[in-house]
Amino acid sequence: MKTVTKFAAIAAIGLSVALSASTSAYAAEDGEKVFKKCKACHKFGKNGLGPDLTGIVGRKAGTMEFKYSKAMVAKSEEGLVWTEENLDAFVTKPKKFIKKTKMAFAGLKKEKDRKALIEYLKTQ
Ligand code: HEC
Repeated sequence: MKTVTKFAAIAAIGLSVALSASTSAYAAEDGEKVFKKCKACHKFGKNGLGPDLTGIVGRKAGTMEFKYSKAMVAKSEEGLVWTEENLDAFVTKPKKFIKKTKMAFAGLKKEKDRKALIEYLKTQ
C-alpha cells in the first residue's frame, strides 16, 4: 500500500511540473498585444476580411462560412488541423506554409510573439 501512495505522489508531482511548464513560459496578455496585428482582418464571433478565429487552436482549417482561397480549401480537404505547431508555422510565414493563401500578412518573426499569440488564441 505504501508503495502505491508513493507512486501516486510522484505522478502528481510529475503532472504539476508538466502543467506549469506548459503554462508559465508565455502569457496570453502578451499575445493579446500581438493580436493587434491580426485585428485588421480577424475577429472572434464573426468574419472580417479574414475568417472568424473563435476556437482556432485545434480547429480544422477552412471550416467557417467564409470565402476561402482554393489553396485553403485544398488544405482543409487534406485534413489540416490548426494545432499549435501548424499555427506557429503558418503565422511565421503564411505564404511559405500555404503557398497560395490569400492571407496578406508577412508573418511574425519572433518566436516569443508567436507563442504568446497562440496562448491568447487558446483563450478565445
Ligand atoms: C490582411 C488581412 C489579414 C491579416 C492581417 C491576418 N490575416 Fe489571417 N487570414 C486572412 C484571410 C483572407 C484568410 C483566409 C486565407 C485563405 O483562404 O487562403 C486568413 C486565414 C487565417 C487562418 C486560417 C483560418 C481557418 O479558418 O482555417 C488563421 C489561423 C489566421 N488567418 C490567423 C491569423 C493571425 C494569427 C494573424 C495575425 C498574426 C492573421 N491571421 C493576420 C487575412 C488576414
